[in-house]
Amino acid sequence: MASFRVLFSIATALSLVAVAQGRPLASAEANCNCYKATAESDAYFVNRKFFDFRDIADPKTPASINGRAADAAAGRTHAYFSTPEWTDTWTLQNWQTQGQGVYRVNSPNNVFIAASDCGGAGATHLTLRTTRQADYQSTAEVESLTADYQFLTVRMLARTRGSPGAVTALFTYTEHGGPVQEADIEIRTTTKSNVVQYTNQPGSTPDATTIVDLATPWTQWQEHRYDWTPTSSDWYVDGKKVASIRLQTPTSPLSVIMNVWSDGGVWSGVMDVGCSAEMQVQWLDLTYNSTSQPAVGACTNVCVIDDLV
Ligand SMILES: *[C@@H]1O[C@H](CO)[C@@H](O)[C@H](O)[C@H]1NC(C)=O
Repeated sequence: MASFRVLFSIATALSLVAVAQGRPLASAEANCNCYKATAESDAYFVNRKFFDFRDIADPKTPASINGRAADAAAGRTHAYFSTPEWTDTWTLQNWQTQGQGVYRVNSPNNVFIAASDCGGAGATHLTLRTTRQADYQSTAEVESLTADYQFLTVRMLARTRGSPGAVTALFTYTEHGGPVQEADIEIRTTTKSNVVQYTNQPGSTPDATTIVDLATPWTQWQEHRYDWTPTSSDWYVDGKKVASIRLQTPTSPLSVIMNVWSDGGVWSGVMDVGCSAEMQVQWLDLTYNSTSQPAVGACTNVCVIDDLV
């Protein structure tokens, strides 16, 4: 029932909001009250949200802002980021931090709806951008509004482009005053373009990280997927399992975060002034259990995400 309400509210929001044109919901999909990632999966989830960035009107790539205060204070770059489809789930961050050599400023100006090049793959996509200014790194971070996700399967069709010295990421996170709980997909633009790093944080623990050479480069569109179950973090690219870590699997309710950043440190690298990097996302499927939206009723009509995206 909870999942039906979520889908219904997405459908309502989409029909009311001219800028966001979602796919029409198949009637079978609207009846789903339970989900699993693939036909073979044995992890079930009761809520699902699908964010489709492929056909949004009036895409616009904003010019970079050069100035820490103005960058942090920048407004939303597109009406889409004021729609309930977005604001019910995501928040645009503008916090700043000293960094590890280069000051870092998150700016809403770095989260935008861009027109796709080359056609074919969808007219538009969500972009998160980082740009190196003379005295700081302008970065992008989108966090979930709530930190109540407890087990999920999340996937996105994404690619990373741009200069060395950046990290693009999709991850879960909480600090809650205790040791960090976090599971990461991280791409470093400094590495070869088929290398992805997967971690159950803290990454300083031996065996908490797996570094994978993918079959295809992340400069191309790839379906990145993360399955979080009570005892394991499992990561997939284009449907193929590429990493599985049980050690330090998060157990607390977490936030879901996308970011594109650099802090001038050894790990992110140092970006040259005037350069930039981006993560581009055509769609994101968030299928999850939530501590604040518990299941109502039995898991009777199970839908497989593979069949829906
Ligand atoms: C998600 O919640 C449902 C309903 O409570 C439960 O049956 C299912 O096992 C949960 N999934 C995970 C991965 O814990």
